[in-house]
Amino acid sequence: MKKKIGVIFGGKSSEHEVSIESAKTVCAELEKAGFSALPFYAPRAGAWRLVKVKDLLSGRKLAGPEIEPSLGGGCFVKKGGGRLRPDALFPIIHGSTGEDGVLQGLLELIGLPYTGCGVTASAVGMDKIISKELAALDGIPVLPHVVIRAHQKAGMGALLKKAEKLGFPLFVKPVAQGSSVGVAKVKRAAELRPAVIRAFRFDTAVMIEKGIDRAREIVCGVLGSGGGAKASVTGEVVPKGRHEFFDYEAKYLDDNGMDFLLPAPLSAEISARLRALAVKIFLALGGSGMARVDFLVDPRNEKKIYFCEINTLPGFTSHSLYPRLWGKTGLKPEKVLRELVAIALRAAAGKRRLTTARK
Ligand SMILES: Nc1ncnc2c1ncn2[C@@H]1O[C@H](COP(=O)(O)OP(=O)(O)O)[C@@H](O)[C@H]1O
Ligand SMILES: [Mg+2]
Repeated sequence: MKKKIGVIFGGKSSEHEVSIESAKTVCAELEKAGFSALPFYAPRAGAWRLVKVKDLLSGRKLAGPEIEPSLGGGCFVKKGGGRLRPDALFPIIHGSTGEDGVLQGLLELIGLPYTGCGVTASAVGMDKIISKELAALDGIPVLPHVVIRAHQKAGMGALLKKAEKLGFPLFVKPVAQGSSVGVAKVKRAAELRPAVIRAFRFDTAVMIEKGIDRAREIVCGVLGSGGGAKASVTGEVVPKGRHEFFDYEAKYLDDNGMDFLLPAPLSAEISARLRALAVKIFLALGGSGMARVDFLVDPRNEKKIYFCEINTLPGFTSHSLYPRLWGKTGLKPEKVLRELVAIALRAAAGKRRLTTARK
């Protein structure tokens, strides 16, 4: 019997449409790998629906019977009766509520194996303060930064002064967003406060980070768990034209917003170092399954490298960075997916063996 994998996609974040595209690749490749894919569509509002793979792939309306998770039941219940019992779940909802541990918490309650990072690693990966602090504790280089939390907003003058001392340019970012939403490059003191106030529209904490002017952006895929976690080749993302950095427009709106150099034009030594760091960061944050780790590299000196962020549910569309990184490393998407499912099943079996008794 083919194993049934529930692919959960859509979601409430600004990356809803990207998630639908990712789900198309994931479902098609899971089927190629010998699984039976069950696409579970999470609309922006309302109940999840079980849709047909062929409707998803052909871009038809995402309709089908409503399904509800059964908490602790290891299954879903269809409206009008009937139980659906996948062997594992594959969440592919990017951004808030899908990538930050919220969805993973629900999957824990359902009690089915699921692919990718667990609750804590997802939440930590989404938080730019905690992920950088944890990485730094493990000796990974990060750029100095100042954090302003909501309760410090009224008297933020002193914190702004402290941030100015880091030197310009500075990058202002909401702590737990993504897709460069609310991110600003600030070149002079007068622009700092407005950028911080704007970033507070998206989050309750804001990070002001020392900037690297025209930084090179190197990405690396990680796949596996524990001692078996491995890194893909590195790639370089180059924002093009009028985009000074990789802003929202360059990422999603401008078809010519970026070039992707694969492999990244780095020396063998630096590329090996970044790959080792990517795995180290992934493990330091408690990651399992997959993640894409992003670095900033000084364009004047490739030895100056800094951890930028980790994405625990990277895009999986046919032109997304993560599958392309693995493709260049020699792993086709169906192999990556097979490995992710195997890790999920192993992790679930391992968890069942843990005792819940007090002695
Ligand atoms: N310290 C920095 N120096 C130079 N560029 C930066 C810095 N921080 C962020 N950037 C630029 O801003 C983009 C978005 O920042 P990032 O931390 O990756 O947040 P997001 O989660 O929104 O992608 C990066 O891809 C990069 O182009
Ligand atoms: Mg980023």
